[in-house]
Amino acid sequence: MSGSRRAAIVAGLRTPFVRAGTDFAQLDVLELARSVTVELLQRANLDPTEVQHVIYGNVTRPVQYSNLARELVLASGLPRTTPADTVTLACASACQAITDATNLIERGYADVVIAGGVEMLSNVPISLSPPLARALVSASQARSTGQRIASFRHLRLADLPPVAPTITETSTGLSMGQSAELMAKLNGISRADQDAWALGSHHKAAAAWQDGRLAAEVAPVFVPSDTGHAVTRDNHIRPDTSLDKLAQLKPVFDRAYGTVTAGNSSPLTDGAASVLLMSEERARGLGYSPKAFVRAYAYAAVDPAGQLLLGPAYAIPQALDRAGIALDDVEVVEMHEAFAAQVLSTLKKLDSDAFAREELGRSRAVGCIDAGRINLGGGSIALGHPFGATGARCVTTLANTMERRSAGLGLVSVCAAGGIGAAIVLERS
Ligand SMILES: CC(C)(COP(=O)(O)OP(=O)(O)OC[C@H]1O[C@@H](n2cnc3c(N)ncnc32)[C@H](O)[C@@H]1OP(=O)(O)O)[C@@H](O)C(=O)NCCC(=O)NCCS
Repeated sequence: MSGSRRAAIVAGLRTPFVRAGTDFAQLDVLELARSVTVELLQRANLDPTEVQHVIYGNVTRPVQYSNLARELVLASGLPRTTPADTVTLACASACQAITDATNLIERGYADVVIAGGVEMLSNVPISLSPPLARALVSASQARSTGQRIASFRHLRLADLPPVAPTITETSTGLSMGQSAELMAKLNGISRADQDAWALGSHHKAAAAWQDGRLAAEVAPVFVPSDTGHAVTRDNHIRPDTSLDKLAQLKPVFDRAYGTVTAGNSSPLTDGAASVLLMSEERARGLGYSPKAFVRAYAYAAVDPAGQLLLGPAYAIPQALDRAGIALDDVEVVEMHEAFAAQVLSTLKKLDSDAFAREELGRSRAVGCIDAGRINLGGGSIALGHPFGATGARCVTTLANTMERRSAGLGLVSVCAAGGIGAAIVLERS
């Protein structure tokens, strides 16, 4: 909180989240971001000239858009004079976009900001090995055919295959899934508990579609094809899954002794989400009733060689302290579910006196988040997880839930590659 200016969450919207390689595979990442942003402005009935800044998260950066957020401005009919920047904080990229927007608003540098994120894992940028890339550049600058041919002279067969991005930590060589396995083992998280969490995620997400909660925050995306069609729903939710079916799935990241499966992991996903933030004064001046306000936030980081996805267990207490509240004061929580093992490890640590004493320098546990106040409409395991967009999905859902329940305080947390944890506290009063 700074001074008297507060950043209001006025509206939020997302595309359907779909498994990579399915409904959005033919779409361009910019089109996905544009589609939801234009729809957000229309549903909010906001004159685009009001928008003063755009901040957008994206992880697997498309080669053709060095600043995707600025392209989004130019493609969405926003004033061509609107500055924009693209941010990357792995799975917490949209959290970074939203807290950057909050800073701009609280400092009085902007009154209306669009923040969000997008990921298109169907079309990740595939690059060339450095020797092949250097050879091609050199060939393009050659002045004769002989020089052009000579550019390729030092290439080896191993330089030829394309290089795809991975979800592996550079410093440890471990994938996210392997790190989740490690966390399950270190924290004693059983396969049965992980599967039960995943089951709950699917069932709650299915119920939230059924009763209209999710339909209200998802905008259809038009996919031009031979006939053209609209994608209207998330496509990973399995209302018919069961503990029996989940128990039959083989572990993926440690085939011999592991507990992390396709069923209790979030899937690779395409999707985008945008949030409209305003200063409280401008929001009320334009006739909006803010859904919630950003009260505080925090980022923390842990050593990736340890428990990679435990960052939120450190960021949450910091954000709560900055908000001047306790975990018990929080009525609803949206916690990103990279893996059930990661969520359950984080909840266990937050409820541990020993962790509080040894790691946080506090005398008592941060607190217990019971099932009745977390991820009430499902989480990333069922809904999917487009890296750049998830933070905006969580903030939108939390703000809507708080509005619906007249909840005073809410909390978002997202774990991210590099050992980063993000936590944002929203308030309503
Ligand atoms: C875990 C992972 C490797 C699984 O990928 P996948 O094998 O393509 O997953 P699928 O969706 O095809 O599921 C595999 C099988 O499990 C089944 N399955 C998955 N979830 C299920 C569920 N809830 N209930 C029943 N069956 C399920 C599928 O039907 C499929 O069965 P089939 O082989 O008979 O068709 C992939 O989702 C992944 O890498 N996730 C982690 C992403 C990540 O690291 N994100 C970063 C987080 S910070």
